[in-house]
This record gives sequence, structure tokens and C-alpha cells, in this order.
Amino acid sequence: MKDASPQTIYLADYTPPAFLVEKVHLTFRLSPEKTRVLSKIEFRPNPASSSRTFFLHGENLRLIGAKIDGAAITPQVTAEGLTADVPDAPFTFEAEVEIDPAGNTALEGLYMSNGMYCTQCEAEGFRKITYYPDRPDVMSVFTVRIEGDMPVMLSNGNPVAEGDGWAEWHDPWPKPAYLFALVAGDLVNHADRFTTRSGRKVDLNIWVRPGDEGKCAFGMEALKKSMTWDEEVYGREYDLDLFNIVAVDDFNMGAMENKGLNIFNSSCVLASPETSTDANFERIEAIIAHEYFHNWTGNRITCRDWFQLCLKEGLTVYRDSEFTADMRSAPVKRIGDVIALRARQFREDNGPLAHPVRPESFVEINNFYTATVYEKGAELIGMLKRLVGDDAYGRALDLYFERHDGQACTIEDWLQVFEDATGRDLAQFKRWYTQAGTPRLRVSEDYEGGTYTLHFEQHTPPTPGQEVKDPRVIPIAVGLLGPNGDEIKETQLLEMTEARQSFTFDGLAAKPVPSILRDFSAPVILDRETSNEERAFLLAHDTDPFNKWEAGRALARNGLLAMIREGAAPDAAYLDAVHTMARDETLDPAFRALAHGLPSEDDLAQSLHDAGHTPDPQAIWEALETLRDARAVTMEATARALYDRHQVTAPYRPDPEQTGARALANAALAILTRRDGGAQAQAQYDAADNMTQQLAGLSCLLQAGKGAAAVQAFYEQWQHDRLVIDKWFSLQILQAAPQDTADTTARLTEHRDFTIRNPNRFRATLGALAMSPAGFHHASGKGYKTLADWLIALDPLNPQTTARMCSAFETWRRYDADRRALIAEQLDRILASPNLSRDTTEMVSRIRG
Ligand code: ARG
Ligand code: ZN
Repeated sequence: MKDASPQTIYLADYTPPAFLVEKVHLTFRLSPEKTRVLSKIEFRPNPASSSRTFFLHGENLRLIGAKIDGAAITPQVTAEGLTADVPDAPFTFEAEVEIDPAGNTALEGLYMSNGMYCTQCEAEGFRKITYYPDRPDVMSVFTVRIEGDMPVMLSNGNPVAEGDGWAEWHDPWPKPAYLFALVAGDLVNHADRFTTRSGRKVDLNIWVRPGDEGKCAFGMEALKKSMTWDEEVYGREYDLDLFNIVAVDDFNMGAMENKGLNIFNSSCVLASPETSTDANFERIEAIIAHEYFHNWTGNRITCRDWFQLCLKEGLTVYRDSEFTADMRSAPVKRIGDVIALRARQFREDNGPLAHPVRPESFVEINNFYTATVYEKGAELIGMLKRLVGDDAYGRALDLYFERHDGQACTIEDWLQVFEDATGRDLAQFKRWYTQAGTPRLRVSEDYEGGTYTLHFEQHTPPTPGQEVKDPRVIPIAVGLLGPNGDEIKETQLLEMTEARQSFTFDGLAAKPVPSILRDFSAPVILDRETSNEERAFLLAHDTDPFNKWEAGRALARNGLLAMIREGAAPDAAYLDAVHTMARDETLDPAFRALAHGLPSEDDLAQSLHDAGHTPDPQAIWEALETLRDARAVTMEATARALYDRHQVTAPYRPDPEQTGARALANAALAILTRRDGGAQAQAQYDAADNMTQQLAGLSCLLQAGKGAAAVQAFYEQWQHDRLVIDKWFSLQILQAAPQDTADTTARLTEHRDFTIRNPNRFRATLGALAMSPAGFHHASGKGYKTLADWLIALDPLNPQTTARMCSAFETWRRYDADRRALIAEQLDRILASPNLSRDTTEMVSRIRG
């Protein structure tokens, strides 16, 4: 029941709401197929608006009745909402509607997951619950009464009263409707307490299905650490007496920051050593922090409209990355973030879905919860902090909280705070928010008479709808090394503001080796002609951990590109450098494990495309395999030694030390497996008492073609645990040989545990196909067809997840004519599906171009 021709919404068309809401009272009479929602909303005309048009959003609602100031009315109802004649003075609107949570497969609004009621309202889900001005600049105080026969019934804020079959909640903090939440079900809680620094005692709960109680302790510790960190670092305290987190099995995204009642995809909160990997633990800690930090950056200060999404998301991602850096290793966090940024955001910026961090138009806002808004949005905050300095950043944030608490704000408000706190003009910086695309920074150098000069030239390629770009301000952190490897100029921040700009360094006795863009000081692509000797030198000597890692990465990439393009042999300089680095016991094991990683298939495809070549996914895969085999030959003895040396014998802890040791030992295991045919991997699998070790063993066994028995055993051991079985689905696809990837995926979709209704399971299966480039892009086209078949099947049930997964096709123009034709055929087939959702229509149309 979506529009035939979806409408585009423009930032430029923003107007303030005609009516504001003082208070809203909601009553829910829960019933799986026929839930009644009674609303009582106190409106008043908005003095800041000249319009008196009364419009309430509402979708898929059955209106039972409506009243204004107690008198029944008959409003005009369309598929998008309702209009009515109202007084030009404060009035009360009441409505009763009926909704069908059990039939809600889109998982937006009020829906049922495994017998429990839950909600997801961001961005525009509240309109599927009742008629309301569902826009973030309408903030109101909510009181909620829930009637039903569920043992636990929760909403935002504080409990007011409860009785047999009912509970009442009140949230004193005005909030937009997207932060509303309700949960009702048979739940048990893991409880704890936190005292804020001003003495407020806060009850903390993680609510889960019976049986999952044992998987809450880690999340609870993460929550308490987040609360302390936000007090210490940002001076932000929690503002209610209760903080609830609920784990839900069917959820489109990771988690949601509803006021006082965060709702989490169970994969992002439930953790135990037996069922979760080290990576899972780290991610859970980060997401708990992220949602908690939203209480100030998102909830107390929210967004005026959805174009401003990065105001809360960029800042909150930045805050959670600072938190993780403080809790764990800052360099390891930074390197991991940059790997993810390049893999997802640079990819997005370079294709048909490129959009500014603050977009100017959209059809479906759910399609803009992107790596650009989130991760590039966070990079912009990092740049701003580098440019103004730590102290000024602190002052600007204090001013932001003081000036805008309780408001719905814009990026202009955000930048104004920095201008006022620092006196700095940020007009040019603002281009980072309005211009899409990743700037390319070309670097050249000269050295004469003791003076060293770096010449920079910036250029951003055109993106859809933005042909020409203006130069941006780019903070470039640079340090210089002397010929003997000593640091001769410490890191300094160069501020590039022109299209072309040079910076000089005087008084140097010899030509230095530059370390440019330390700590990845700006989200740009650095173009620099340089030798492999210099890269090996930086890998050995750079004091900046990010650039040290980057030098190794560049060496690996160049060697691989030569293998792919010219049929070159594996690069001896790379093999030698990575071998030396692996044995350097002064280096953090986690860093060594990262430095051991190779550029991804997708990364190499993009590099080839950038250099004017057509990537062949099969050739890329083969080059990586050849390099891994070569590395296994040269490093076999070292891998054996590393494997033994870095075994963890202490009881499992998901802390940075053990995590780093396991990462390095498992990198060594992957190397050994290429030599011993899987003997060590089988031993590790058999002995494992935690999921990190078990899964690494299984992964290596599959890689070696010896996984059949372990795959069976793993299933039998874990078939009762949905989150572990998700891993089982993914791994078989990720480890399949390219010609088998699509068939393995198709076979697994026939497994009795596959279900199209659970987003985690769908992503574990079809998402794994999309994440296996050589298999997905197999010349037969069966990868494309398998994915398209399932996206077409999912769209009528769950448009949001379907639309997100369409981005698997976003790189299609890189490839050869045959592959492009095969993909175009699938994109057209999706577009031609009857009643295709607005979400998927927008995504596929943008990708198809
Ligand atoms: N605000 C949530 C977070 O980043 C994400 C919610 C996204 N939901 C959606 N329907 N697009 O923590
Ligand atoms: Zn967020």
C-alpha cells in the first residue's frame, strides 16, 4: 500500500510545525492482532508558524473514533494521515485506533517478536502506532498506560503505578515521538545499580527472555563504564531513576536509544564466552555505550528534522569511538575504524549512492542511516576537534549542552557553538557537511638546501547531483623521520584550505621521510608516488601506529596489484617486512594481528578501478590466495612459534590483552593451516572452551576443505542458540570457494533453521553472499540472481532490511560489460516487482542510475 510514485522530500522545504504538543497520554490495550491505542494529545498553535493546517501522520491504522475537546469529529483520512478542522487556540485531540502487531513483519511501529511486544519508532514508525505529528521537532511529555496479560510491561521514563494486568509510566523529559518505546512480554531482568556523581541512585536492568539471564553481565558492566565515562569526559549525568535495556530477537538495526528504555537487537547485547567472540564483546561494549551516550547527544538535544541525522549520529559515533579508545587500545581502535570507513563509507562515496553527511533530499529516510551519516559524520567531529584543539572542543561541547538542552537542532546550531566558543570561522568547514565524495589528496615533495617542501593538491570527483566541488579545509597531521629512522619533526597539524598548497620545513640536515596523515587525520584518499623501500622504512620506524600500519597495508596492496595486473610473483619486500614485524615482540599482539591482515577483495577492486582497470573478482581472489600461500611458506616456523607463544592459558576474559593474543595466535593458525592441512585447527576446535577459539578453528577447517565433520558437530552443539547458528550460516558461505558460494547460500536457505522473517538470520545468509566478492560476482551470475530472488521475496515483508541489502549492487559500474549486464538484469527485475516498497524503489533506482 505504498505510493505508486514516491515523493522526494527536501531540506529546503522545511517549515516549523503548525501545532506543538504539551502532553500526550497513551493507553495500549494489547492483543496480538487487534491492539487498541487510545491517545489524548494536548495541542497548542505554534507561535513560530503562520500555518493553521492540522495534519497528523498515521499509516496502517484503523481509526475507531476521534474527538476534539470531547466532541466526536470525522476527520479526513488518507494513507499518510489525517486532517481536521481545529480551533485557533489550545485544544485536546483524542483518537482510538486499532493496529495489528502480530501482522507487522516490517518491524517498524509496534510489532511482536517471539511472543513479546516491542517497538521501533525511529525514524517514522510512531505513525504506525497512532495519529501524531511524527516529526522530531515536536517534543512532548508522555504518559503511557499499558493493559495486557504480560508479566512485564515497560515504557519510557519512570513507573508510576501498576496493578493486575496494567502498568503506568511517565517520562518527565519532553521528547519527539521517535524516542517512544513500549515492551511487554515474559521477560527476566539482570539488575544492578549506579550512583551518579551528584548522588542520584539509578536502577539498571537488562531484560531478556528466560534462559538468557546468563548473558547479561558483560553488557551491564559496559553500561556502568559508559555512565562513568560520560560523567568524567563530557560532564554528562544520567537524568532518570531507571535505565532499562531490552534484548529483542527480531530487529532491523543494531539498537535504539529510546528514552530510558533502550531496545537492542539481541546480537548487540547478549554475551557469553561460550557463545560470543572477542569481536562480539567489543562490539557489544561499543553499542551499549553508543545508545547510552545518545541520552545527551540525541535525546536531550535532538534533531530538528531528519536531514540533521548526523547531528546526533556522527557525534554519538565519535563519542563511542573515544570511549572504546579509552577502554581498550586507541591505535587498534583507530586502525579498525579506518578499515571499516574505507570498506563501507569510501565505497558508498565512490558510487551511485554517494550523498553528503547532511543530505538535502530523500524519498525514504530509512535509506539514509548510512556509513556516510554515521561514520563520516564521526570523522567530521574528529577533524573539528583536531582543528580547534582539545580545550576548545571541550568548551564548545559545554556550550552546546548549555545552549541547546531540550531543543531540536541543526548542523548550523552545532557549528555556531564552535564559532562562538573559538572565534573561528567555520564556513569552509561546513562544506564537509554539504559536499559528497571523498577528497583525493595528491602529494609531491622537494628538498633543497635544508628545506623540505610538501606540495598538496586536493580534488573531489563528481557525485550524483554534485558536479563541481569547492576546496575543503583538510587537517593534515605530518611528522618527519630522518634517514636513520629517528623522528626529527614531531607531529604537526597542517591546515590545508586551498585547492593547492605547499608547506615547508627548514633546517634539515638531510632529506627526510614524511609520515603524512598521521592517525588518519582526515577522511581523504592520499595519492603519493613513493617507493616500496620507503614504505618498508615507515613500517619499521614510524612512531605513529596508524601510519606504521598504513605503510604495511600499502606495501601489501601494491604487491597484490602487481600480481593481479602483471602476473607478478608475491613481493619479496612485503614478505620480508611483514615477517620481521610479526616477530617483533615489542609490538602489541593486537597491532601485529592487524598488520597481518591483507586488503580486502573489495578494497583491491576499488584500487584497480581507480587506476583505470576493470577488476576481475576471480583474479583478485586468486592473487590473495597465492600471496597467503607464499606467506605460509616463508612464515611457517614463525607462525608455529607465534601460535605457541600467544596461547592464552588464563580463564577467558574479553579484555584487550587476551583479545590481542588470540587475534595474533589465530592469524598464525590461518598460516599454519595452509601447511598442515588443518591438523592444528582441528586440535584447537576440539579443545576450545570459548567461541573465539572454536570459530577460528572452524573457519580454518573450512578454508582447508576439512570442515564437514566440524560443521555438523557445531550445529548439533549449538542448534538451540540463534545467535550462534547465525555464525554457522555465515561462515559456511564466507569460506566457500567462489564457484560454490551461491550454491552454498541457496542450499542453506533450504535449511530448516533458515527463516526470511528474522533479519539476523537473513543477513547471516544473504549478507554473507554479498560480502564474498569472488562468489557474489561469479561470472555465471548465479550470485546476483540468488540475492535478487531473496530481496524480491523479502521486500513485501520487510522493506527496510531489503533496501539496505540492495547496496550489495552499488559497485556494479566498476565491473566488465558481461557482469554489468547480469547485474542490470537483476536490478531491473527487482524494480519490476509488483508493489515494490518505497524503500527498495529508491535504493534500486539510485543504484541503477
Ligand atoms: N538511532 C539508532 C542508533 O544509531 C538507529 C536506529 C535506526 N533505525 C532505523 N529505522 N533506521 O543507535
Ligand atoms: Zn546512534
